[in-house]
Parts: sequence; structure tokens; C-alpha cells
Amino acid sequence: MAAYTLAHLSDPHLAPMPQPRLHQLVGKRALGYMNWKRNRHAIHRRDILDALIADMKAQSPDHIAVTGDLVNLALPDEFTQARAWLTSVGTPQDVTVVPGNHDAYVGTTRHRIADWQEFSQGDAAGSNSAAGFPFVRRRGPLTLIGVSSSVPTAPFMATGTLGQKQLDALDRTLAQLADDPNFRVLLIHHPLQSKSSYKRLTDADALIALLKRHRVDLVLHGHDHVHSTMWFEGSHGRVPAIGVPSASAVPHRHYPAAAYNLFSVTRDGDTWRCDQRVRSFVGDKIVDVRNVRLI
Ligand SMILES: [Fe+2]
Repeated sequence: MAAYTLAHLSDPHLAPMPQPRLHQLVGKRALGYMNWKRNRHAIHRRDILDALIADMKAQSPDHIAVTGDLVNLALPDEFTQARAWLTSVGTPQDVTVVPGNHDAYVGTTRHRIADWQEFSQGDAAGSNSAAGFPFVRRRGPLTLIGVSSSVPTAPFMATGTLGQKQLDALDRTLAQLADDPNFRVLLIHHPLQSKSSYKRLTDADALIALLKRHRVDLVLHGHDHVHSTMWFEGSHGRVPAIGVPSASAVPHRHYPAAAYNLFSVTRDGDTWRCDQRVRSFVGDKIVDVRNVRLI
């Protein structure tokens, strides 16, 4: 069987920021807008993102996963822009999206992730509501499981929460997949472990406990805007959880330049083999910066 390639990128934080209306800039959004104007607009660049996507397309991945933070302040116009951008990346058949904390920046616009629902729904569409997480998609040898850790939070907070209802649903979903031989990939915005209490996944312990009960082969996340590989104890051995830098970032402070990952999945006898290739900006070129066998 030929290798199946899954590209993973995250946190595009799409620029340019549409001009907000004054009444939209209250509370957390006002602080976020100041921060964008002062710092973030110079960090998250559309030209960087466009070059990264062009490079990724040139690699001809079989599928593309985007793990959230498409927008910045969750303004309605940003969601319109995000939908157009997603459509330029690929079709809903070829691109799978889970939302991040910036996509639910304030409570009033949380429902706007429905604007890109075709990219965030399971194969059994129709059985899923607009807030249908977890969702399951089968693509080639992969079973992709998308969850949402995206909840509105207080100013200066960027935590994520799955919630008991979603955790219970995930437990049931994974139990139903017990006989599914595919390579299982869990997509989530927040990492399963965080040093920062204001950026963490609040119910990470419950998710880590689920991994010990059900087989998941690979976890992909964003949020921290850095390269990351963590290992968790799973029901069938150790499970790698891989984080990727923002897809639009120029290097700044301890944050690396924009990058994306390519996971090549092949059947190896009775088990799966998965290799990870990291492509990142080095200067103004995008090159391989890492090539390892994960599993
Ligand atoms: Fe982000």
C-alpha cells in the first residue's frame, strides 16, 4: 500500500484584520484589538501563510488538518474571510478543521464556526448538529476524530475545555470504533499538557484517561505556536501528541517561524508506521527541518 500523507497546520490567525465596528470592541475584544495593532499584526503575516500553503500544496498531501485559531477576535467579517481562505486551501472533503480559543473569542460569536461547518463535520453529516463534536471522518487509511476545546473565556485567559458531555460522547465514539482497523488521529486545538494555567486544557486529565482506555494512534494540536512532541500512555502503547507553530508567524521571542507537518502513514505488517516530516521557513525559504519515524 502506498503511503497516505496527512498535512497538519494550525493557528493561521488570518490577516488582514477586517476593520471592527466600534460597538464590537468591548471587553476582551478591545484588549485583543489593541494587542493586534501593537504586536500581533506584525507577527501573523498573510504573505507567510500564503507561501506556506503553496509549499504544502506542492507536496500533494492526501488530506489536510487545521487545528484552530483561524481568526483573531471572532468578528463576523473574520469568519467570512476564514471561510474563503479554507475554500482556497481545499474542499471540505480534503480539509478537516477543529476550532481554537480565538474562534470562540467572545460568547456572542461562538456560533460563527458554523460558517465553516462542512469542514468540521463527520461523514454521517445530518446526524451531527452544528455543534457536533466529536465528529468522525474516514479518509484513506485514517480515521480522523475532531473535538472542540473552543470555549469563550475571560480577558487574558486562553484555556480550553471539552466538557463532560463531549468527553462522554468521545468515550462512546471511541468504543464504537473498537473494531475499526484504521490509523486513528485525534484533532484538538489545545495541547494535552501545558505549563501555563491560563492557556491549558482544563479537563486534560479526563482526555488522557480516555487515551488509556481506547486506541488513538496520533494526537495533533496547535495553540502553543511551537514545535512540540509529547508522549502519552495509551491502550496500545505510547501515543505521540504533536504540536506545530502558527502557520503565519515570523519568528519572535521564543516562537519559531511558521511551519507545518507531513505525516506519512503506511501499514507495516500488523501495525501502522508513521513518519513525520517538518517543513518550516529558514530565512525566506521553506525547507525540511526534521524527518523522523514516530511510530
Ligand atoms: Fe493561536
